[in-house]
Amino acid sequence: MDRDTVEPAVESFPGERADRWIDHHQQVAAPSTPSYEFVWDLTDEAVGPFCTDVDGNVLLDFTSHVASAPLGYNNPTLRARLDEFDLPNPSKFAGQNFYAATGWPPDAPEVPGPAQLMDRLTELTAPYGLDTVFLSNSGAEAIENAIKICYDRRSGASQAITFRGAFHGRTLGALSLNRSKAVHRRHFPEIAGVHALPYCRDRTCTASTCGCGFFPTEEDGSLLDGMLDSDGGHLDPADLAYVIVEPIQGEGGYRFPSDEFAAEIQRVCERHDVLLIADEIQTGLGRTGEWWGSDHYAFEPDVITSAKALQVGATISRRDVFPDEQGRISSTWGGGDVFAAMQGALILDTIAEEGLLANVRERGEQLRDRLREADPGHVTNVRGAGLMVALDLPSREVLDRTIRAALERGLLTLGCGRRSMRLLPPLDVTEREVDLAADLLLAAIDDASTDGGTGGDPTTVI
Ligand SMILES: Cc1ncc(COP(=O)(O)O)c(C=O)c1O
Repeated sequence: MDRDTVEPAVESFPGERADRWIDHHQQVAAPSTPSYEFVWDLTDEAVGPFCTDVDGNVLLDFTSHVASAPLGYNNPTLRARLDEFDLPNPSKFAGQNFYAATGWPPDAPEVPGPAQLMDRLTELTAPYGLDTVFLSNSGAEAIENAIKICYDRRSGASQAITFRGAFHGRTLGALSLNRSKAVHRRHFPEIAGVHALPYCRDRTCTASTCGCGFFPTEEDGSLLDGMLDSDGGHLDPADLAYVIVEPIQGEGGYRFPSDEFAAEIQRVCERHDVLLIADEIQTGLGRTGEWWGSDHYAFEPDVITSAKALQVGATISRRDVFPDEQGRISSTWGGGDVFAAMQGALILDTIAEEGLLANVRERGEQLRDRLREADPGHVTNVRGAGLMVALDLPSREVLDRTIRAALERGLLTLGCGRRSMRLLPPLDVTEREVDLAADLLLAAIDDASTDGGTGGDPTTVI
């Protein structure tokens, strides 16, 4: 497959083999696992955002496996680095406390392992003064450990603030912070003391124009400030362990808040010495054209959570925020998957060495310009930062039809929020690939507006 010339080609979607794979998988998979009709064939050709499915369809993947394959398929730099190493049985081993050397010296061994991944992460979070990492296996675990260290650090503080539309994962602690969809929380026991505030959806909003309710009136200041106010507030700041925020909401609908909203959260946290957690699991590691979503705003997080593109989970903070009592936070497999940690470290190296942040900014601009210029009738609110791009369709039904119509033309996209489509191509996507995707998407939008596509199952997955 030649990346410079290959084009999406769909014979039938989903094909007969995909149906058989899905049937087989679903016989044993938990029935509520989100299922998707796209069945990528790992043994077939794939390069950049192009991959081959099990029926031989060539698809243009603008989902990057929900941001967890940030360099697409078979990235040559990553492949070359992996091929260089004579991999020592890259299996899992328990914990970070069983030190394993991956060559010599520790700060630049032959193969990067969990310790080198942590080195790289602390380099990237040094501007926020964060110097210590706890590795885990998933985004939800990164969140669980973030909130645990905050409850521990602010001992006795049992309250927390989250935001409407938030998504932080599906473990019991993480789901207590979710406010995106009822399905994540309904009937599950939750951590007590979590308060939800409105999340700003308008990048241009100010305290005087605010429509989301975070600033009810200009004179009274923000809801966050008001609830902690010593005169008339209902929450004692000493009881508040942390505020957790996605710098840009992902699953909730790719919502880009205003500068004033971010600055206010930062100001109030600082004023009351409350810990601020930035959930960068979807926004981090270059997706938005900066290393962190927080870089676009005034957020100065005390804790950053990362996962997805990192291949493992990470809770990053200052040393003094972490408990030092042995065993207080730990996990058998925490950071123990040498191969995943190695891939994570090499992904970070590749993003830096190939200067991909600039590409992310340029290609994101190109994609948004193409969609805005075409201005298809029922599409609104084309938005984004870097390659975290979204648009709104009139209803969930039209969204699902459009996702299906795009698939039938060979373009993979995702839904989020109530009626938004999200596009998250690999960070090294090229100009030609963005043009191809824009052509396919505009045609799919047209198909779906007329009746068009054949419907099918809702495809909004995480
Ligand atoms: C912002 C955010 N936080 C947390 C998570 C949970 O990550 P995981 O699915 O790896 O548990 C996700 C997953 O989509 C996410 O987007």
